[in-house]
Amino acid sequence: DLTSKLRINPSRLITTLHDTCQWGTGHRYGAHATETGMSRLSLSDADKQARDWFVETTKALGCKVTVDKMGNIFAVRPGRVQDKPPTCVGSHLDTQPRGGRYDGILGVVAGVEMLRVLEEGGVETGFPVGVVNWTNEEGARFPVSMVSSGVWAGEIALERAHSLREVGGGSATMRGELERIGYLGEVEASHQAMPMAAHFELHIEQGPILEREERKIGIVEGVQAYRWFTVEVVGREAHTGTTPIDARADPLLAASWMICLSRRAAAEFDGGLASTGILTLEPGSVNTIPGKVKFSLDVRAPTDEILDMLEQRLRSDFDNVIAEATRGGEGMSVSWQTDSVSPAVHFHEQCIEAVRESATAVLGDENLARNMTSGAGHDSVYASRRCPTSMIFVPSRDGISHNPKEWTSPEDCAIGADVLMQSVLRYDRH
Ligand code: GLV
Ligand code: MN
Ligand code: MN
Ligand code: MN
Repeated sequence: DLTSKLRINPSRLITTLHDTCQWGTGHRYGAHATETGMSRLSLSDADKQARDWFVETTKALGCKVTVDKMGNIFAVRPGRVQDKPPTCVGSHLDTQPRGGRYDGILGVVAGVEMLRVLEEGGVETGFPVGVVNWTNEEGARFPVSMVSSGVWAGEIALERAHSLREVGGGSATMRGELERIGYLGEVEASHQAMPMAAHFELHIEQGPILEREERKIGIVEGVQAYRWFTVEVVGREAHTGTTPIDARADPLLAASWMICLSRRAAAEFDGGLASTGILTLEPGSVNTIPGKVKFSLDVRAPTDEILDMLEQRLRSDFDNVIAEATRGGEGMSVSWQTDSVSPAVHFHEQCIEAVRESATAVLGDENLARNMTSGAGHDSVYASRRCPTSMIFVPSRDGISHNPKEWTSPEDCAIGADVLMQSVLRYDRH
């Protein structure tokens, strides 16, 4: 079969990736023009520009473009068989506030490169082939990660997603911002309205394993479970100069203690992780003991069962902190709000196999690939609930991501894009 010999154009792939980073700003870390990260928050003006590029480019490549009510964009290239759902590749064009140029972006740009190669080669696939840009994967602006693939999968209510407010106390909602930038589509955000035959996602590893083992491809078999919480600790505002330590109800002291305990507790569970990335104090004044502290808590584990146990442990540890901190003094309280829930996932065997075979074909040596579990969440988590899914990882320099210095070599990006395209073609031939 001739299509097994198809390869992407490496320099075009990487040029396109950097071109799309003209939309957004990036923290500079080196002298070279591309040595800047990427800040392109979901549904910002820069995100609109990147979206416009995606729509125009895929239309020019013969795709039918559909935007749903979450602003997810589906670009579908027709196949021989009519009325069949497309075999898709998807990822995201939004980034962290101080993110890099690869997380998410590589997966979408590799999809566009695949479309270019199929067009140039005059390749007619059996099923249609689609490329998807999922909205607000990061959860960095609207604090539910993978929210729009979650709505598509029927796991998150549209109304809840639409009414999400941006982090940092801004007044913008997802629905308002979708409208403002012109990406509140007409089509239901649903797997019924936009079914997919399969979903493949190319992504950077975001960890150190492939680089350390000098391998080129991660065959991703699943994703660990995680839950995001906002923990609120309430105490009492008081003057810093006149309130003796033993007369204070200081929620920051309690919160700090909780955060330290969360790390220690997580370490006691196999593969457990607990992290805090957002901390806010009210009222935020040098000489006022805060009355209220909120912190984000991101808890992860390899299985839902381990995560359940870890969560229970943290809840009781935090209650103990409050009991201790309240002893004799003014009352304090702690409450938890659940923001995101991403269960552990095992991907589809046939898709995993398509990736494995493609990796061997592209690399010519099966030892250059290895099986992996993803530590990060991806839209593939929700895609996998509704269609056969798997993922492909490429090495991350120093294992770093969510950092401007995130980098994957052009050669590794190209290998990943080839494996992605071959996985789609192989799946199509099944
Ligand atoms: C989401 O993508 C996460 O893993 O934080
Ligand atoms: Mn990502
Ligand atoms: Mn990310
Ligand atoms: Mn992610």
